This record gives sequence, structure tokens and C-alpha cells, in this order.
Amino acid sequence: MSDWRMRAEAHRAVRILRVVEEAEGFSTLYFRDALCRKAQPGQFIMVWPPGAEEIPMSLSTIGGESSITVKAVGPTSRRLTSLSEGDLIMIRGPFGRGFTLMGEKPLLVAGGTGVAPIKPLVEEMLSRGLEPTLILGARTKDRLLFLNRLRRLLGSKLHIATDDGSLGFSGPASEYAERLLDEGCFDAVYACGPEAMMAAIYRAAERRGLPIQVSLERYMKCAIGLCSSCAIGPYRVCRDGPVFNGEMLRRVLDEFGRRRLDPSGRPTPLEE
Ligand SMILES: Cc1cc2nc3c(=O)[nH]c(=O)nc-3n(C[C@H](O)[C@H](O)[C@H](O)COP(=O)(O)OP(=O)(O)OC[C@H]3O[C@@H](n4cnc5c(N)ncnc54)[C@H](O)[C@@H]3O)c2cc1C
Ligand code: FES
Repeated sequence: MSDWRMRAEAHRAVRILRVVEEAEGFSTLYFRDALCRKAQPGQFIMVWPPGAEEIPMSLSTIGGESSITVKAVGPTSRRLTSLSEGDLIMIRGPFGRGFTLMGEKPLLVAGGTGVAPIKPLVEEMLSRGLEPTLILGARTKDRLLFLNRLRRLLGSKLHIATDDGSLGFSGPASEYAERLLDEGCFDAVYACGPEAMMAAIYRAAERRGLPIQVSLERYMKCAIGLCSSCAIGPYRVCRDGPVFNGEMLRRVLDEFGRRRLDPSGRPTPLEE
């Protein structure tokens, strides 16, 4: 096993540099870590706050400082959002395969906390001279994460979709994506967010013959391809993903957007 991989798999304690409340129940925790600094957009870490479980989180900032952006949904994510500057968390990773760059004018679609891995992807695309367009979606305008930062980065190439119509397009981001795909001259598609949204965008990209990558979530324990709790078809999401391309998705269409394994390994319908 390489030295880098051994170091990535070991637990490390990192101190929280600051916590930014992005919206009610959504917080970004910043820290410094030598391995996360070199991660690929789309890779994730396992985060273990004191007194709680260990859960997967995408890296939402990659560079001198790293960050995770957490939506408080249950005991561990709530514990994370309750932490403050100076607190310690244990991390492992970064793990998995992140996004790879395709095309020159990609369309990106991010729903809810799905924007966490998409933000560093946008930053990388811009640094390499690509021209990304992003649809940022959320239930309401108050839940649009990183809105100001993305506005500064993308200007008129940032589009908003809210389910309640409080800002931008009124309706699902996937519906808006169909419109932009019909109007625009995009040569690749990326998506991260609720799986029903990603499945709709996958179908839209396939109909137009465009290459696509999406980031999947499955229940994770080991994060290194051993326990099978994140299995989908022949793949382990922690090791072969979380980013899946069109060819991989075609092999798991009976599960993608339909069902997942629950924590005890039983197939269960996806609820969004
Ligand atoms: C690769 C990946 C990246 C993710 N990135 C982010 C992110 O950037 N921001 C964010 O807010 N959330 C992210 N998640 C989801 C996050 O891991 C879950 O919301 C979190 O685990 C919930 O734990 P809980 O104890 O707070 O809630 P619980 O009440 O225990 O669970 C709530 C939901 O989270 C799921 N979940 C619980 N434990 C795990 C686990 N070990 N692995 C996967 N899912 C689990 C459950 O299946 C359930 O659907 C990511 C998940 C994966 C797999
Ligand atoms: S989490 Fe164990 S194989 Fe993926």
C-alpha cells in the first residue's frame, strides 16, 4: 500500500478554524489538512465528531484551507453543525474518485448540499480556462448555498432555480436544465443533488448524446471498498465513485434513482 494511501486511511485530528452558517441548518466548517489540500473536486472524507458516528462529507473547499458543508439532518450532522472554532474533529480521506474535466462549455447542476463538491469543480474549471455554466437549485432562496461566491465567480453564467419560485426559475433545477440544454451549446453535463434530480438530468444528457458525470450517495462505513455497504450494481460508491460517468450509470439503471441499501444492507426505495 502506498504511503499516501496509508496516511489517507488513518484517522487524523484537525482543529476547526471557523464555522460559517450558510443558511439555517447548513454550516461550513473550515480546517487545514495536508492531504485534503491536494484532493480532487468530488472526493469525500469521513468525519467523526466527538461523541457521534463517522459520516461521509464532500470537500466543499480545496486548497490552503479545506472545508465541509453540512446539512443538519440527524444526530451526527447536527453534532457537526453545533461545533465551534477551536473544536477538534477526526477525519479520514480524501477517498473515492472525483470529477474529471470534460468539454469546454459544461453545464453543471447543483441541488441543495450537492453544491458542496460542485463549487471546487467550478473553481478548477475556471482556473483551466473552461466556461462552466451552473444552475444552483434549492427549495427556497434562503437555502441557496455559496450564492455570493458563485455569483462573483460566474457572473451571468450562474442561474438560479428554486422550488417555491422565491428566486430565479420557479421549479426543479432538472426542468430548468432541460431548457438550457435546448437553448445552449453545452458539450458536457455534471450534476450533484437529490438522486431523482440527477436521474432526470442523466436522461436529458443521454437523449442529447452529451457526456455526463454525477456524484452518488450511498450508506458508507469503511469508505475503502471493503464492507459493501455502499454497493450499487458491480460498484462500491466509496471506491469506484462517488462520481459516476454515463457508462457506469448505464450499468446500474435498475438502482440509480430508484433504490439503495439501508444501513443493514437491505434494498430500500430512495426517498428524497
Ligand atoms: C460521498 C458522500 C458525500 C456526502 N456529502 C455531503 C455533504 O457535503 N454535505 C452533507 O450535508 N451531507 C453529505 N452527505 C450525506 C451525509 O453523509 C448524511 O446526511 C449523514 O451521514 C447523515 O448522518 P446523521 O447521523 O446526521 O443522520 P441520520 O439520521 O443517521 O441519517 C440521515 C440520512 O443520512 C444517511 N446517512 C446516515 N449515515 C450515513 C453514512 N454513514 N453514509 C451515508 N449516508 C448516511 C441516512 O441513510 C439517511 O438517509 C454525503 C454522503 C455521501 C455518501
Ligand atoms: S463503505 Fe465499505 S465498501 Fe464502501
